[in-house]
Amino acid sequence: MNAKRILLVIGGGIAAYKTLELIRRGRERGLAFRTILTRAGAEFVTPLAVSSLSESKVYSDLFSLTDEAEIGHIRLSREADLVVVAPATADLMAKMAQGHADDLASTTLLATDKPVLVAPAMNPMMWQHPATQRNVARLRADGIHFVGPAAGDMACGEVGSGRMTEPAEILAAIHAILVPPGERPLAGRRAIVTSGPTHEAIDPVRYIANRSSGRQGHAIAAALAAAGAEVTLVSGPVSLPDPPGVAVRRVESARAMRDAVEAALPADIAVCAAAVADWRPAQAAEAKLKKGRNQPAALELVENPDILRGLGHHPQMRPELVVGFAAETDDLLANAAAKLERKGCDWILANDVSTGSGVFGGSRNRVHLLGSEAPVESWPEMDKDELATRLVARIAERLGR
Ligand code: CTP
Repeated sequence: MNAKRILLVIGGGIAAYKTLELIRRGRERGLAFRTILTRAGAEFVTPLAVSSLSESKVYSDLFSLTDEAEIGHIRLSREADLVVVAPATADLMAKMAQGHADDLASTTLLATDKPVLVAPAMNPMMWQHPATQRNVARLRADGIHFVGPAAGDMACGEVGSGRMTEPAEILAAIHAILVPPGERPLAGRRAIVTSGPTHEAIDPVRYIANRSSGRQGHAIAAALAAAGAEVTLVSGPVSLPDPPGVAVRRVESARAMRDAVEAALPADIAVCAAAVADWRPAQAAEAKLKKGRNQPAALELVENPDILRGLGHHPQMRPELVVGFAAETDDLLANAAAKLERKGCDWILANDVSTGSGVFGGSRNRVHLLGSEAPVESWPEMDKDELATRLVARIAERLGR
């Protein structure tokens, strides 16, 4: 999605705050934003916050001479690849359905010749109201795209459908409109991603685990799907939502993760981002271990299967591109190079976990890309989403489309 231009219309709803994250994450993925902030929208987010994040002027007034002198509402609506209305209030949608043009947002929406994506957000009763549903049906018939609303707890305290969908999902919808499926670089490719920690049972209530959040692996799965790949994400226990457009297999132990990966083969691409426990208790107790009664003197551990190694050396179904991670505290590049060789990978992303780059649980990551045939690339520290997008662009380049 290079340098695609979004005209974002921010309506007046509490969900307006989520559009700040939408802008930030969208820009990381190469989108450029111009924004119209309605008067009601400006009650929830400030023009300064919006312009700081979008690094662009915020438009709000239809009759402002300065705005019209710089860029008229017609140009504003035409110089975008896509118009996104988020949050779309019941009132904004009613105006759109009726073709009103009494402020900058409605006038621009009437004047545009570009696709329009609407992310509704309102109280569940308002969403279900026949008037709103009539407007939605009208807008759909007019070719307007919708994303959400989602169900769940509302800021107003009620529960039901009406919550604005999360920024990641809106971005996926934007992507789906801007890049038709057949033109995505990984269309027709299958990918397997492992993510998160594994839990190795000690007894029915206790386990060995690690601090992996799954953020990096989930971001890679989402980016692969956005690039058109058919993705199976095999995830250990995490508290993240499922990435849009990805088939998720939830597992607990390393052995279950290995089985789910095997079941997902064949694939063209495998990215092992999971922090798989290297060892598990030799015997998981069937009943809860009781203090004083059968307290174990020491935990006997046995080695878990190495999933990445299994893929890299797979006798029949080795994916065309096998990518692993190497978290090291010392001799980063030498250890990562040895791991690349030992596990039969094409690429290893090495991260230094000694400097506290916040790899585990944090939102940012810094890696070096080692390949069997190319010099080491050191990438700057970046957001895990951005890293995922960059990695997937490299994968698409490598697989030749
Ligand atoms: N990995 C895996 N299965 C395992 C262990 C690791 O698939 N049982 C994968 C991870 O997903 C990661 C890579 O192997 O992509 C490197 O993991 P790491 O824990 O750094 O490597 P280890 O095999 O544990 O090597 P060492 O203990 O020497 O650091």
